[in-house]
Amino acid sequence: MSAPGGAPGGGGGGDADGGGGGRYGEAVFRPEQAGEGERIDFGALAYDDITLARLRALGAGPGWRCLDVGAGTGTVAHRLLDEAGVDSVLAVDRDVRFLARRAVPGLDVAEADVTAPDFAAGRGRFRLVHARFVLMHLPERERLIRTLARLVEPGGVLVLSDAVDLTSDRAGSDGTPYALAMRAMWRGLRAEIGTDVSWVPSCPGLLRDAGLTGVAAEIHVPPLVPGSPISRFWADTWQRGRAAMLATGLIDDEGLDEAIRYLDSDGCAALSAGMLTAWGRKAATGAVAP
Ligand SMILES: C[S@@+](CC[C@H](N)C(=O)[O-])C[C@H]1O[C@@H](n2cnc3c(N)ncnc32)[C@H](O)[C@@H]1O
Repeated sequence: MSAPGGAPGGGGGGDADGGGGGRYGEAVFRPEQAGEGERIDFGALAYDDITLARLRALGAGPGWRCLDVGAGTGTVAHRLLDEAGVDSVLAVDRDVRFLARRAVPGLDVAEADVTAPDFAAGRGRFRLVHARFVLMHLPERERLIRTLARLVEPGGVLVLSDAVDLTSDRAGSDGTPYALAMRAMWRGLRAEIGTDVSWVPSCPGLLRDAGLTGVAAEIHVPPLVPGSPISRFWADTWQRGRAAMLATGLIDDEGLDEAIRYLDSDGCAALSAGMLTAWGRKAATGAVAP
């Protein structure tokens, strides 16, 4: 395991608006809390097939050196190696306890804070740079996108996935426990972590502004079927984020319990938050906005 570029453990205590490593994993989603790895895995199970299909369609395969930022439990890194046959993946996270559990040939693990000013220093360049459900939790995303774009080798690709909220502002969804829970979650995570998904639809433009070309994007919304990975992911996320959600005043304990039961009921008829994936290529000449 290597740890260049950024303090091990990532800049805890950072200010969501003013820099630092963000606040993910501090009050909410603490990696040391029992079951947090399983919660991340439910999210991964809901999205990994879509992510892998996109990365392979973009060419990920033999000969590729890849970087996965905020790699979580490492499911994408492992599948890039096992299924796409890439040469290597550097999996970086502010907390690598889940990544360090399973060593495989080609996988390198580094504990580092992607927001650190020297994050890119000494890492070389990658054919693929990927970050999923990471930038939405961090401050200074435009600077981070430029940093990640610099880590792409000429001809390589930067792929970013983050959440899109399809429920909170939708007319007619007001008042259902599910819609209230979703709204309370986004507002609570914003207060606790600094999480912000409002900018996600503008991600393609941010990639273009970072000097990348051939920019495109797609959205996947996994169906909310009782017992499915995405339904279990939201139920688990709401249990862990309960205090932050209640603190918004938008929902009470009873309403939250009802929303969680609803997710597991045959009567469930709602739209999950989705995943927007945007990508862009570094020109073969390597020019990127400063
Ligand atoms: C929602 S999880 C997503 C995990 C994985 N990318 C996935 O999609 O399954 C966010 C991950 O980003 C990591 N993270 C948060 N802030 C970070 C930072 N400043 N530097 C590096 N990693 C960070 C967290 O530790 C966590 O593993």
